[in-house]
Amino acid sequence: MQSPSRVAHIAIIACFSLLFITKGVNTIVSKNGLSNYSFPDKFMFGVATAAFQIEGAWNEDGKGESMWDTYLHKHPNFTVDHTNGDLAADSYHKYKQDIIMIKSLGVKYYRMSMSWPRILPNGTDHYINKAGVRHYRKVLLELIEAKITPVVTLYHWDLPTALMDLGGWTNPKMVDYFEDYARVVFSLFGDIVKIWTSINELHVHCYNGYDLNNFVPAMKSHGVGFYLCSHYMLLGHARVYHLYDKEFRPKQKGKIGVTLDAFYAEPKDSNNKEDVDAAERYLQMHLGLYAHPIYSKEGDYPALVRERIDTMSKIQGYPRSRLPVFTPEEVEMIRGTSDFFGLNHYTTILASPSSMEPGWSVPSLDHDTGVKSDQDPKWPIPGADWLAVYPPGLRKLVNWITRNYGTRVPIIVTENGVSDFGGLNDYVRVSYYNKYLYQLLLAMHEDGCRVDGYFAWTLMDDFEWSDGYSIKFGLFHVDFNSTEKKRTPKLSALNYREIMRTRRINFNYIKIPSYKYKNL
Ligand code: NOJ
Repeated sequence: MQSPSRVAHIAIIACFSLLFITKGVNTIVSKNGLSNYSFPDKFMFGVATAAFQIEGAWNEDGKGESMWDTYLHKHPNFTVDHTNGDLAADSYHKYKQDIIMIKSLGVKYYRMSMSWPRILPNGTDHYINKAGVRHYRKVLLELIEAKITPVVTLYHWDLPTALMDLGGWTNPKMVDYFEDYARVVFSLFGDIVKIWTSINELHVHCYNGYDLNNFVPAMKSHGVGFYLCSHYMLLGHARVYHLYDKEFRPKQKGKIGVTLDAFYAEPKDSNNKEDVDAAERYLQMHLGLYAHPIYSKEGDYPALVRERIDTMSKIQGYPRSRLPVFTPEEVEMIRGTSDFFGLNHYTTILASPSSMEPGWSVPSLDHDTGVKSDQDPKWPIPGADWLAVYPPGLRKLVNWITRNYGTRVPIIVTENGVSDFGGLNDYVRVSYYNKYLYQLLLAMHEDGCRVDGYFAWTLMDDFEWSDGYSIKFGLFHVDFNSTEKKRTPKLSALNYREIMRTRRINFNYIKIPSYKYKNL
């Protein structure tokens, strides 16, 4: 009898062959006027996932609860489709299939995260869950066997509930707890893992979870908790960087960075100085807030951000700024703590100034920023309502980062992708990856930006936080109704594989029916 993973392997290869036969393989032809740039051989191509979004097995083998487990069990209506991550794509059991899928794409890197409560069920390192450790070692060894390099995120939002009960990232003690957790992980897996990212998307996590109530912990501490969360995360990241740098790097010889997220912001009217300023302010308040302390020469929060929140806090009668202050030692400790610029990017907004908009709280990040964000009605929105497709935004953002922080460290796009409402013929995703990757090539070849890698979000359909399973981001379809969570490659998987093979974009590889998809 064949093992389940062998059967899955055969099924996936068969699906690919079928797609090849039905679609045909075209030679590489650049579209009129497009350059035939290629990605260098050393370019790190990968796919990304996160533990909570795919693993399931929420209470198996001694795993502790994460704040997402606890909160969604208590508030089942929190997600739009009233689902949770209890089963997800069942990758805890099906990781071998996942690795076969990754391999079939021809990518050499896999960005995954570890579940903190699977390793430390109570959050702190006085007790380590051996079964959790065994699981991740098996996954990592399987990846190595498949010649895929793991890129591991320590924290992708699934905080142990025990630590959330202490205030989560608004608690200064989190810096110590995060360092303790990181020490355990580096000592247990650092012989295998050579590329780490500390925290995923500080901005999105703190904004949606602490400023608003879009994500767990739904704290709604707008304009206060948000900055505490950001502040302690920056300190936590820096501590973990130094821990690795001093205690582990000499032996383990790896790299460690952080993953920041940003929409690009364009002025609504590029001839209007106020809109131009608003776009810059938006980028500084959303990305500069985190990037400047880490990547700028002088460190600390950007002057614009400092000044704005200090002034607002004063006007609002706060005894001190809502944005905490780093000591000079802390500024130094944070500065330069990343071996690469991990960037998650999905979409762009059009910025214009505003002092108040419906839905803004006072105080809040939105109110402090004072930017109304619109999107061009011509930009397609194929899934999540925030994700409008505007490929040049990636090139412009990469240029903005290069202008602001130079090329001392390379940019690695740690996430980029698009959502839709499902289906194997995901032309929208094929087009999105082609166009965004093409813009990345332009940033590299024509603008001189230093970009070393790109990870597609995401390997397969998964649990999309407050959107549950209602929208899809995967290269592979997952049948969430089947007990075996059957995985099937979509057209975008085939297309991505071709990009991996040729290291170029071939816009003709999969013909997009133009009568149906006018805007793509
Ligand atoms: C970024 C997050 O890191 C990831 O968890 C999420 O699924 C994607 N954005 C899409 O929203």
